[in-house]
Amino acid sequence: MRVSSTPSSQWTALFVLVSTLCTLFTPAVSVKYENFKTCDQAGFCKRNRAYADTAAATSSWKAPYALTSDSLSWKNGQLKGTILKTINHNGETVRLPITISFLESGSARVTIDEEKRQKGDIELRHNSIARKERYNEVEDWTIIGGLELSKNAVESREGEKTTVTYGPEGKFEAVITFAPFGIDFKRDHATQIKFNDRGLLNMEHWRPKIEKSQPEKKEGEDETPTHEVTSGEDESTWWDESYGGSTDSKPKGPESVSLDITFPGYDHVFGIPEHAGPLSLRETRGGTGAHTDPYRLYNADVFEYIMDSPMTLYGAIPFMQAHRKDSTVGVFWMNAAETWIDIIKQKEAHNPLSLGIGSATDTKTHWFSESGLIDVFVFLGPTPKDVTKAYGELTGYTQLPQEFAIAYHQCRWNYNSDEDVKDVDRKMSKHQIPYDVIWLDIEYTDDKQYFTWDPLTFPNPIGMLEHLDKSDRKLVAIIDPHIKNKEGYQVVKELKEKDLAVHNKDGNIYEGWCWPGSSHWVDCFNPDAIKWWVGLFKYNAFKSLPNLFIWNDMNEPSVFNGPETTMPKDNLHHGNWEHRDVHNVNGLTFVNATYQAMLERKKGELRRPFVLTRSYYAGSQRMGAMWTGDNQANWDHLAAGFPMIINNGIAGFPFAGADVGGFFGNPEKDLLARWYQAGAFYPFFRGHAHIDTRRREPYLVGDPYMGIITQALRLRYALLPAWYTAFHEASVDGTPILRPHYFMYPSDEAGFAIDDQFFVGSTGLLAKPVVTEGATSVDIYIPDNEVYYDYFDFTKYEGQGHKTIQAPLEKIPLLMQGGHIIPRKDRPRRSSGLMKWDPYTLVVVISKNGMASGELYVDDGETFDYESGAYIRRAFEYKDGVLESRNLGTKGKLTDKYLKTMKSVGVERVIIVGAPKAWEGKSSVKAAGKDAALEFHAEEGGKAAWAVVRRPQVAIGEDWKIEF
Ligand SMILES: *[C@@H]1O[C@H](CO)[C@@H](O)[C@H](O)[C@H]1NC(C)=O
Repeated sequence: MRVSSTPSSQWTALFVLVSTLCTLFTPAVSVKYENFKTCDQAGFCKRNRAYADTAAATSSWKAPYALTSDSLSWKNGQLKGTILKTINHNGETVRLPITISFLESGSARVTIDEEKRQKGDIELRHNSIARKERYNEVEDWTIIGGLELSKNAVESREGEKTTVTYGPEGKFEAVITFAPFGIDFKRDHATQIKFNDRGLLNMEHWRPKIEKSQPEKKEGEDETPTHEVTSGEDESTWWDESYGGSTDSKPKGPESVSLDITFPGYDHVFGIPEHAGPLSLRETRGGTGAHTDPYRLYNADVFEYIMDSPMTLYGAIPFMQAHRKDSTVGVFWMNAAETWIDIIKQKEAHNPLSLGIGSATDTKTHWFSESGLIDVFVFLGPTPKDVTKAYGELTGYTQLPQEFAIAYHQCRWNYNSDEDVKDVDRKMSKHQIPYDVIWLDIEYTDDKQYFTWDPLTFPNPIGMLEHLDKSDRKLVAIIDPHIKNKEGYQVVKELKEKDLAVHNKDGNIYEGWCWPGSSHWVDCFNPDAIKWWVGLFKYNAFKSLPNLFIWNDMNEPSVFNGPETTMPKDNLHHGNWEHRDVHNVNGLTFVNATYQAMLERKKGELRRPFVLTRSYYAGSQRMGAMWTGDNQANWDHLAAGFPMIINNGIAGFPFAGADVGGFFGNPEKDLLARWYQAGAFYPFFRGHAHIDTRRREPYLVGDPYMGIITQALRLRYALLPAWYTAFHEASVDGTPILRPHYFMYPSDEAGFAIDDQFFVGSTGLLAKPVVTEGATSVDIYIPDNEVYYDYFDFTKYEGQGHKTIQAPLEKIPLLMQGGHIIPRKDRPRRSSGLMKWDPYTLVVVISKNGMASGELYVDDGETFDYESGAYIRRAFEYKDGVLESRNLGTKGKLTDKYLKTMKSVGVERVIIVGAPKAWEGKSSVKAAGKDAALEFHAEEGGKAAWAVVRRPQVAIGEDWKIEF
């Protein structure tokens, strides 16, 4: 969270203090653009854009990078060699070792390094103690598998190129051209992805600074760029850079890496979160609706961010998918330094051979990072699911959360005392509003010292946690990476004594400002720091109970007086890696440590951790949930939520949500009601509010809003079995939870850019929550000729195209696609934990051809026992008048024991939507051989016929049949 324009008095004090330290930091109504760099203000961004312009303007442009054919060696699916970069007219070269790996999974990886730096054969300026290599440890944090090399890949060299055939049934090829170096990745002989097609490959090699005599500088004058260098390059940002009053000492000089990646015939690209904007990424260098700056990835505390912008936000996943009719491919640019991505779409005259396989548009992307390696993974699809699955094999699939974590979370900055918490809890219960988790922001601590409780306002945390536990409710408390620098605070004392904090460029403990005032930052790149951090969460160290979980905020990291509100790039982490090299993965390492701590709070108590993070990188999906940071209570921010959450989901991190109600400002009641209706479809569903806002717990909003909000919450709770099943699916193969149109209908070009409606998991639920003020209907796009039914009243919609759905304030536009079976639990309870033994309702949604099928995944919702088989996985199928439940699970050590505990959990109701007319007059069915009552409702107006089977007395974990 972040301070806003109207700080309460207690914040004003801090404000004045910080403001005097840092002139950038002034109250604002909206994001301060000037706090964050444009491309022109980031030296390497400007240099690489200029490089691209020079290449484009030079008709005979030839990239000065050549792979030497005699350096090439092929072994076990890996091609190794050396690229020579020609650096001047005398033909002097720099050696860049390259490894191209072809993986068993069908993915390929291209890694380019710099030999001199590998060998440590360089000198750093300013007596820096930073590492000399290019940062090569991102993968230790990001990659967890999928690196086995292909056994079937075959190389065949021929003249000035070599071709490697690889992938499933040898359908993929990489054609590597030597001079200039470039790679064409093909599937079924057609080029899908091209590296260095435009010749923008650039690795700024290490060079010594040559002091030149310069004309006398006049007092107060800016340093003038020196253009007279042999290379003709603009050196003005090579050696140091100043921004907003801080100077980056850049001990290694210029070291950026860059590559152009072209997707021929592809007109949409998605991914590279986190940005506020449409799912289908815009052009950044000309074209209609183009942005002027590239998309930026540099995790930062950008509060009250603006809409439809390529500006950086809190998280970074440099994974992009390109999509055209019937083909999806992707790249993962594994680099943790500041990164920018330019996108151009160009109409191209394709050669006749490739006609008909794509659009006439090429999407051309240009990636540049400030430091590190060029390390890119290539995924050739052909389906969106193939691409997300392959990416997840490398970076991991989403954590299967505890079930409470996907229920509703009630948060605000702040609940003021343990009595306040209990009071909110009691009122939610009294008004029969379900919720699972109440949250505490920074004020619960004693003077912003994490792992302590304010003795005046939270004198009895254990009593509070016990109180919540009575309704199976949880508490989440915030713990941030900044540790208050204060005499007598045990945590900071240990941090300093054990030397586990991030260092400044001189190797001393770095000091900066955050919520507690003067602070130090724990360095979770350091294994000893992780070990120490884990110890801080033990119950004897942090007074708490097992129903307390953790929120990691401000982990970009946010530093109030730092450049761009974060750490100086020349700070040093464990192993003396510069902060510059690791910035985007920094937040992940902190969450990783917290996740480990949650696993080890007490021996023998193994529960799945829940950690919410604001900053993230590729791989963060393994550790918990993210939210979209400090949004505003207005309709634009409500609308921005879905594209952002959907985009995060296709980038491998689906456990995502936005602050319901809007963090800053006071939402009008209709906005709040609509936001809860939308939030009921966020994978991570949390209401949150700034300290200066009025209280807005759902029971405070009055009628009819409280009722509308309660209905939205109950809808979420009723559908928890379906949501949990979708999370299970995401956790085993990376399929997103909110599925955008292109993902479900990769052939339907009319829907590729749709990002305001989506399917929920595999349920066939198609939602388009209202996100515009005053709307009383929405237009929903139906992608196929299947029949769709309104979720609430079974109104039928048929035929592909746009349909209008009435949506007065109390109504969520939600359709059920024919052909699915949706599991629900319909009994209202205070929390999801109390629903554990409740019976199921199955909603059978009959397709046009009279069939339906669906899946259910169930486990204890808490432990890791599912890994030993303690789960239920069922396939339901309706066909020819018979509904059948079949086992899909495989047997493990704990299967039988678990099934025994679930024996009494049954199905209390089956609802058949679109029931056959022939059932009219029928009053019973055979359920597992016994009679059960059937109730039939004939078609009426535009509403489909439906039927209900009551109390069929079949168990959820067993095979059975219901015969109609
Ligand atoms: C945390 O990082 C360590 C490596 O330091 C890794 O072994 C572990 O799997 C990570 N945890 C998660 C949940 O990814």
